[in-house]
Amino acid sequence: MKLTSGLNFLNISYIISLSYLNLFGGVFLRVLSPTAGNYQLQNYEKTKESFNWNDVKKVFSWSTTGKVNMAHEVIDRHVEEGRGKKTALLYSDANREESFSFEELKKLTNQSAHMFRNLSVEKGDRVFIFMPRSPELYVALLGAIKVGAVVGPLFEAFMKEAVKARLEDSEAKVLVTTRDLIARVPLDELPKLEKVVIVGGDLPEGEKFVSFDSEMKTASSDDSAKVWVDLEDGMILHYTSGSTGKPKGVYHVHHAMIQQYQTAKWVLDLREDDIYWCTADPGWVTGTSYGIFGPWLNGVTNVVRGGRFSPDDWYGTLEKNNVTVWYSAPTAFRMLMAADPSILKKYDLSSVRHVLSVGEPLNPEVVRWGNDVLNHRIHDTWWMTETGAMLICNYPSEPIKPGSMGKPIPGVDAAIIDDHGNELPPYEMGHLAIKKGWPSMMRKIWNNDKKYNEYFAIPGWYVSGDTAYRDEEGYFWFQGRNDDVIMTAGERVGPFEIESKLVEHPAVAEAGVIGKPDEVRGHIIKAFISLRTGFEYTEELEKEIQQFIKTELSAHAVPREIEFKDKLPKTRSGKIMRRVLKAWELNEPAGDLSTMED
Ligand code: PRX
Repeated sequence: MKLTSGLNFLNISYIISLSYLNLFGGVFLRVLSPTAGNYQLQNYEKTKESFNWNDVKKVFSWSTTGKVNMAHEVIDRHVEEGRGKKTALLYSDANREESFSFEELKKLTNQSAHMFRNLSVEKGDRVFIFMPRSPELYVALLGAIKVGAVVGPLFEAFMKEAVKARLEDSEAKVLVTTRDLIARVPLDELPKLEKVVIVGGDLPEGEKFVSFDSEMKTASSDDSAKVWVDLEDGMILHYTSGSTGKPKGVYHVHHAMIQQYQTAKWVLDLREDDIYWCTADPGWVTGTSYGIFGPWLNGVTNVVRGGRFSPDDWYGTLEKNNVTVWYSAPTAFRMLMAADPSILKKYDLSSVRHVLSVGEPLNPEVVRWGNDVLNHRIHDTWWMTETGAMLICNYPSEPIKPGSMGKPIPGVDAAIIDDHGNELPPYEMGHLAIKKGWPSMMRKIWNNDKKYNEYFAIPGWYVSGDTAYRDEEGYFWFQGRNDDVIMTAGERVGPFEIESKLVEHPAVAEAGVIGKPDEVRGHIIKAFISLRTGFEYTEELEKEIQQFIKTELSAHAVPREIEFKDKLPKTRSGKIMRRVLKAWELNEPAGDLSTMED
């Protein structure tokens, strides 16, 4: 375990600004002190002392029956408890605008459950969903969970290689996709994939294809397709990147619901009449844990907006739907900040009551922008694909320190530890680690026990891969990743996958990929490339290489910058030294070069 590479990468001025803020934290505390109100987490310290996860279980019928199904708890339960007529989903995109009650979603997810049953999907089978946001995506995803399948949502921008890697590793049995996206699924190379359900458009020729629309029309809507499972049975697989190797399948079980339910109350502060909008796509964990499960476990009206980001579109979505609670990401807030301020004047955002952020460090400037311009302090939350739900957060009832991620949720022990698992005193930087065992923790990495165990290499702890420190009031301050994982525009990208793809291009001899600090996106992807003999740098070649990554991997993996070098820094064993590339980029000392080849 080495912290050094991550610490080298840190932008010193950023650390200084954080410490500065810390010293003067009190000033901001007063400016941004919470307004009075009836919050669900009224007394953090008291709740922390007395809280027990077993109490949350009592909300759900499985505490008495022993049987569970997430799809039942998010949809059917509300119908049974008399909330059937309430609006569950407010969907819109440039061409569609529809709303669905819990009762309607119950019927539709029953139908899709029957469809999956008819396709021989059984408990534990993997059903993947690869499509843009639409009501059908949510209906398919919950229908698959209803029959006990493990769902795997894939972001719509993925290209062939990225899709293949995930379907292959998970041995997916059924894929739900659209007529447009099917071109990116290499069916011939996926022998385990038995059926492909096509949503919309005509059905391609071939035995594997099934039409979603016609199956749904004939499927029964009764309850009989629902499969009751155990708390520890698998529910969802989210593929995410590490710094080495292929993307890993993070496996979550139904049990995660108690933490998703409770954090949606404490942190999102969801109440019965809220209209909630999470801007994340279900291809990423935020888009499921808090785009589906958290809000619907609480029976709240959930806004889903399809299509791409633009300041007008987003402010318009807030206004039109009277959104009260809004969960988004620093990159999006920074893009809104960068937009012409007069745009904001066109919209009435007075419905908004609470704003939150996740995925990357939330800069103090953004928190202040929220306070001054949106009229809301933006509440940061910290968690990971692997953690399944929020772990360190800011709460409506607690003061915010701009630049800090907040404090651990009650029921979770977080700490800053050294390489041996010793807890470090306030202000000392170390591994951000969590005491092993919280309800929504991943239960395995699919097909890769070795990778799973690496997270628990320090006995008793889950080690996040983030470097942070804690202040004496218990607030946590993010300092950087201590591996090479890149967070760009809130998305997590593994450099290895991009490097591997780059060297497949005929002109590329060697490639090293790093994150370069960027004001809006947090980081952008930067590639260092050496060319094969016979190739020379041209602007077209650069564009061609970028296009190659875009069409083979995905748009979000494209290096926005490429620097061409005669030679890349490597260890004697031939490993590209990203640490040295980062030092070059940041004009910082490269540190110990003893392992570098001559
Ligand atoms: O480095 C941390 C960063 O995002 C990583 C997890 O990425 P992912 O699994 O894609 O999940 C993102 C959304 C749940 C973390 O290891 N990260 C997440 N939240 C924050 C953050 N960095 C700083 N501040 C945060 N609030």
